[in-house]
Amino acid sequence: MDMNELTAKLSAIKDEVIADIKDLASSRGVYEYKKGIMDPKTGKIGTLMREMGKIPNELKAEYGKAVNEIKNWASERFDELDAKLKEAEMRAKYDSEKIDVTLPAKKQAKGNLHPNTQVRNQIVDIFGSMGFEIYEGTEIETDHYNFTALNTPADHPARDMQDTFYLSPEFLLRTQTSAGQIHVMENKKPPIKIISPGKVFRSDDDATHSPMFTQMEGLVVDKGITLCDLNGMLDEFVTKIFGAGTRTRLRPSYFPFTEPSVEVDVSCFECGGKGCRLCKGTGWIEVLGAGVVNKKVLEGCGIDSDVYSGFAFGIGIERIAMLKYGINNIKLLFESDLRVLSQIDD
Ligand code: PHE
Repeated sequence: MDMNELTAKLSAIKDEVIADIKDLASSRGVYEYKKGIMDPKTGKIGTLMREMGKIPNELKAEYGKAVNEIKNWASERFDELDAKLKEAEMRAKYDSEKIDVTLPAKKQAKGNLHPNTQVRNQIVDIFGSMGFEIYEGTEIETDHYNFTALNTPADHPARDMQDTFYLSPEFLLRTQTSAGQIHVMENKKPPIKIISPGKVFRSDDDATHSPMFTQMEGLVVDKGITLCDLNGMLDEFVTKIFGAGTRTRLRPSYFPFTEPSVEVDVSCFECGGKGCRLCKGTGWIEVLGAGVVNKKVLEGCGIDSDVYSGFAFGIGIERIAMLKYGINNIKLLFESDLRVLSQIDD
């Protein structure tokens, strides 16, 4: 090959490279193209370099210079193009991976305790701080513990106050946590100071009654316990659960296992006693039943009623939850509707 031929060939290669690289759209494409054209066996520039050995000595310097020139020229074009394409590729990558750090975080749903559990925990905390212990009774009871030992023998009219689910003539679903009073007094000598939370069952079903609901029993037995002690303790309890300034009022009532028996009202925490829809205009809301433990019940448990006396009370947990959180149907507390439950987080 003479130099003229070579010069023509090199200029053709240049034109070809210029035309080819216009179509390259990625740095990978540039790399492949460069590899192809520089290949010593198949590439147009590669073979020229490989063939250097066959060139007669007198032409070698000139030939080598020309081939080197085109090799350098091509390498520069490839590097330029590669840099340009790489930059565009990086920018596209950054754009696609861009993170907007100012975007608000995804909302995480937070769980909370069921309103019944919240109220039960609050009541347990209040009485716990007054030194009460917790006794947990059983949901299946005998007729004896649920009624007879609580001074409510068979055919006693007070049995009609609680419509009972009997499992057999002897066993039943407890209608009141008061059944636990007897177990405690049979097993522990005074001083006794317990609360007993748990489920109770009655065949009763309307907006404010459910066949299953929750009570919290309280029992204190010691020397010299009077209705005054009950009153003082209740005052403390209601201000803690309903807020400072809440007062109590005792009304005469009847339970076979307490004598005297009282129904306890609190001054309406909604209107402060002026009268509103919550308290039905009376200024007072009934919250629990209580009384001085009937001597017959103490004696039945082997406690000397001339030495010891006591008071007991029974709180309806759902009733407190409904009053506190403005829930007008007890079913809302059992339907597990998150739209309702998620609103209540004390
Ligand atoms: N056990 C009663 C009821 O369920 C409430 C109560 C408990 C009353 C303790 C007096 C003393 O209605």
